[in-house]
Amino acid sequence: MPGEHEPMKRRSPVAETGIAADAVVARARAWLREAGRVVVFTGAGVSAESGIATFRDALTGLWARFDPQALATEAGFRADPALVWRWYAERRAAVAKARPHAGHAAIAAYEARGGRRVDVVTQNVDGLHRRAGSRNVLELHGDITRVKCLEGCGTPESIDAAFDWRGDPREPPPCPRCGAPLRPDVVWFGEFLPEAVLAEAQRAASACDAMLVVGTSALVHPAAELPMLARRGGARLIVVDPAETAIDDIADARIRAPAAVALPSLLAE
Ligand code: APR
Repeated sequence: MPGEHEPMKRRSPVAETGIAADAVVARARAWLREAGRVVVFTGAGVSAESGIATFRDALTGLWARFDPQALATEAGFRADPALVWRWYAERRAAVAKARPHAGHAAIAAYEARGGRRVDVVTQNVDGLHRRAGSRNVLELHGDITRVKCLEGCGTPESIDAAFDWRGDPREPPPCPRCGAPLRPDVVWFGEFLPEAVLAEAQRAASACDAMLVVGTSALVHPAAELPMLARRGGARLIVVDPAETAIDDIADARIRAPAAVALPSLLAE
C-alpha cells in the first residue's frame, strides 16, 4: 500500500496541465501498478464517449421539457406510467446501440491482467462495463435492461423467465405474477440502493490501496461517499474527469481528460 496519509485534510491536488500532466499520469500509473486492491468508481461520464448522455446533461429532444429528477421517481412513474416507461424504453434503445469504448476496455484489461483485485463500482445502469469484459462489477443503481414488479411481488429474473416483456406493446406491461405495472429495475431518487451491493462497495472502498474515480460529479449520496471511505482507508485517489468534481480537493491526482483518452495509457501494463 502506498505511504500512509495525513488525516483527512484538504490536499492541494497535483497539477494537471502541461508537463506536470505527464508527471501526474506517471505518478498515478505507478500507484495503480503497485496497488494490490483497486476500486474503479464510475459515473455517467465514463459512458459519454459511448454516446450515452450524462445524467446532468440537459435532456434533449422530446425530453428537454422534463426534469429527469421527476421522471426517475416512483411518484413520477405512478403519476404517468406510460410516459416514464417510454422514457426508459428510449434510454434502453440508446444503451443497446452503444458500444463500450477504449476506456471501458482498458478497465477490463487491467482487471484481467491479474496480480491484484479490481472491483468496478458503477452508478451507471447501462451495463457497459460488463459488456466490455469487466467481471467484478457492482451496479449501485441497478440495470436499465432489467424490470421488476412495481409492487415488489417478483424478482427481475423470474419476470424475465416468465415472459418476454420486451416485445409487449403495452406501456408498461403488467407483471406476469400479479398484474401490477412492471417498472425499470433501477434505483430512483428517494429510493434505497440495493443493500448487499452497497455494503460490498463500501467494504471494497475501505480496503483498497487505490481508487480510480472516472466520470462522476460525485454529488449523489450514498455513492458519493465511497471516495471518502477510500481516503480514510489510506488509499490513493485518482480522478479522471474533463471538469472539476466535488472530490477534487481530496484527490492525489486529477487527470483532466476524457475517459476514453486517459484510461488506456493510465492502465497500460
Ligand atoms: N470522460 C470522463 N468524464 C466525463 C466525460 C468523459 N468523456 N464527459 C463528462 N464527464 C464527467 C462530467 O464532467 C461530470 O463530472 O462525468 C460527470 C458526470 O456527472 P453526472 O452527470 O452528475 O453523472 P453521475 O455523477 O454519474 O450522477 C450520479 O446521479 O442522477 C443520479 O442516478 C443518477 O447515477 C446518477 C447519479
